[in-house]
Amino acid sequence: MPHPEPTRLTVPAAARLVGRIRVPGDKSISHRALMLSALAVGESRVKGLLEGEDVLATAAALRAMGARIERDAAGVWTINGVGVGGLLQPAAALDMGNSGTSTRLLMGLIASHPITATFTGDASLSARPMERVITPLSRMGADITASPGGRLPLMLRGLCPAVPIEYELPVASAQVKSAVLLAGLNTPGVTRVIEPVPTRDHSERMLAGFGAEVLVEETSRGRVISITGEAELRPQSITVPGDPSSAAFWMVAASIVPGSDVVIENVGLNPTRAGLVTALRMMGADITELDPRTVGGEPVADLRVRHAALQGITVPHDLAPAMIDEYPVLFVAAAFAAGRTVARGADELRVKESDRIAAMRAALEANGVSVTEHDDGLSIDGTGGDAIPGGGTVTTRLDHRIAMSMTVAALHARAAITLDDASPVQTSYPTFFDQLAQLSGEAA
Ligand code: S3P
Repeated sequence: MPHPEPTRLTVPAAARLVGRIRVPGDKSISHRALMLSALAVGESRVKGLLEGEDVLATAAALRAMGARIERDAAGVWTINGVGVGGLLQPAAALDMGNSGTSTRLLMGLIASHPITATFTGDASLSARPMERVITPLSRMGADITASPGGRLPLMLRGLCPAVPIEYELPVASAQVKSAVLLAGLNTPGVTRVIEPVPTRDHSERMLAGFGAEVLVEETSRGRVISITGEAELRPQSITVPGDPSSAAFWMVAASIVPGSDVVIENVGLNPTRAGLVTALRMMGADITELDPRTVGGEPVADLRVRHAALQGITVPHDLAPAMIDEYPVLFVAAAFAAGRTVARGADELRVKESDRIAAMRAALEANGVSVTEHDDGLSIDGTGGDAIPGGGTVTTRLDHRIAMSMTVAALHARAAITLDDASPVQTSYPTFFDQLAQLSGEAA
């Protein structure tokens, strides 16, 4: 993926944030909508697709394997799928850019097809562990040669027919779960994943929506998800709900900037994703759910968020999987709370687009926030609502969520905060800075 040149950006404080915005489509659901549509026979339509670099990397890879994917002027995407088992040999390496989800889920899809693909990515993605998908996919019969440490670039030769497995997840990872289930689509027999800790369940929901035989059982070993192959997928019309991980930035921004009153429209509130709402409410945030409804099979509401005095809390460990991508911005909320917030139990943060524990510690410390680093999280002593000192420069480390979280911190800082590179925001939220201008401009 061509990635924009690094852009240095200095973010000043905001007087207050007021207005309504609609966050873009959910990233996880957008990837899955493209992938399953590409495997259905016939034409699927997707509305509200996230048009960020990560999802576009998935679209490009699926096109390279035979799917016809187009976008009309109104922003509706049509996908003509090749059928389960019908992916074609790509002519060149698949460039995954910054996207771990594209990489791990597509590795699963290809593992049970008789094709060979090479996966490449940017410096961030090339440092992330792939062993977690290599292990189960190899057990299903895929032949995978990775770079040292189980990293990209790697070459995957699929096996058809692959061997169905039962796999208990050693890490709580929706990407690993999804990779195995997607490999199971074209594998004769029952492929089973056991997850001791529940993770986002968009794959299970959407596979069932496309007509695959999927069974989800709650057992003493955890959630057991079984898929029967070889499946046949029927094309669908999908509306992608707004991304709660994108809404998270405005939830925290409106909570910390005095005088703010923001309505965030169309926010997906799948319980496997909504942990931040729970944590912020525990801290005293003022979040009201308006017009709860269902969009694309997922619970959705508009969220009205008003400025509130936040209290430090100890974040319950069992919330971690449902807010794993929101820790960076939760750390920012903690910086403005009264007293200490302890946010631990999230060692997976070390292997995201960056080491988010180290990155956020450095970013907050550079801006005058008192932080203690743990192996699995941070403890933060907040200002009790006052502005943080700011004035520092943040190294965003090719990580969109570090860039956006520290932009939020800047909105209530005494001196402007500089991002060394704001361009990673393009991976998941291309309209982020426009919407910030809108919310802070309407207040003037
Ligand atoms: C995702 C799962 C999570 C999350 C990522 C998207 C998905 O990763 O951090 O942003 O779409 O399945 P892990 O599976 O590594 O926890």
